[in-house]
Amino acid sequence: MKKIEQAAQLIEQNKSLFICPICRGEMRVENTSVICTSNHQFDLAKKGYINFYAKSSPKDYDKKLFEARYNVIQKGMYDRLHQKIADIIDALDHRSATIFDLGCGEGSHLQKITNKLNRSSVGIGMDIAKDGILTAAKYHQGQIWTVADLAKSPFQSGKTDILLNILSPANYQEFKRLLHTDGHLIKVIPRSNYLQEIREQVMDEKQQSYTNTEVLEHIKQHFENLEVQTIHYQWQVPPDVREDLWNMTPLTWGKEIKQPIEKVTIDLEIIIAQK
Ligand SMILES: C[S@@+](CC[C@H](N)C(=O)[O-])C[C@H]1O[C@@H](n2cnc3c(N)ncnc32)[C@H](O)[C@@H]1O
Ligand SMILES: [Zn+2]
Repeated sequence: MKKIEQAAQLIEQNKSLFICPICRGEMRVENTSVICTSNHQFDLAKKGYINFYAKSSPKDYDKKLFEARYNVIQKGMYDRLHQKIADIIDALDHRSATIFDLGCGEGSHLQKITNKLNRSSVGIGMDIAKDGILTAAKYHQGQIWTVADLAKSPFQSGKTDILLNILSPANYQEFKRLLHTDGHLIKVIPRSNYLQEIREQVMDEKQQSYTNTEVLEHIKQHFENLEVQTIHYQWQVPPDVREDLWNMTPLTWGKEIKQPIEKVTIDLEIIIAQK
């Protein structure tokens, strides 16, 4: 089956999750188009994704960054994070989970986490960057890939069991709208030593210190029952992805690599929240 047909089939099976981003009407699938009750039409791309974002994507996150992220993530940089998130989801009470990844980038997190789950799941990735979703659809099968703005997402209210938001911006009003009453937000944010070996090369000493206190405070204003887990390790960077490591983050935009990085610190907070 062609990628576009696979994508149409997956959306057809899950069409009750979608909502028209223009009029908020219900959606149906006709051949390889998704059409609302007022006939707003969104065509699936040949490469197997769908674009709901009417404007052109911001240009900052581009193909080079997403390909670099894909290479590094596939080599295992976040494997321990993925396992931890899969364990968290498995321990929650959702028999079959609908999992959204908002700001999914090139899709490896969603793919790897759902592969590790001990339960069936429907994975939907969404990003405002078309290059991210193009890369996701190129490499990962079995998930629905959508270009959309997470502040105004084309999905029904109250239907998401798990909402992932990994190293990406958030819109908590919208996240609460999407989540099922028993649903959980799993948000990953950096801690102070995250990617410190890169920070050391691109920032002066003052800039290098980072704190996530403000982000945490902001979430607390919207969500109750917050549980915070920390994950901290050093990852040995395989030589063939050392250049990709440099190119995978906005931290290095416009900066030349001084010294190849052999090991990199992963220092993250996983926030699990209910509305
Ligand atoms: C640092 S990247 C992280 C991507 C991915 N979660 C990962 O960890 O590889 C931040 C992502 O957020 C996306 N993003 C920023 N604003 C967004 C918005 N309003 N709606 C959807 N995605 C957005 C960017 O396009 C980018 O892919
Ligand atoms: Zn419509």
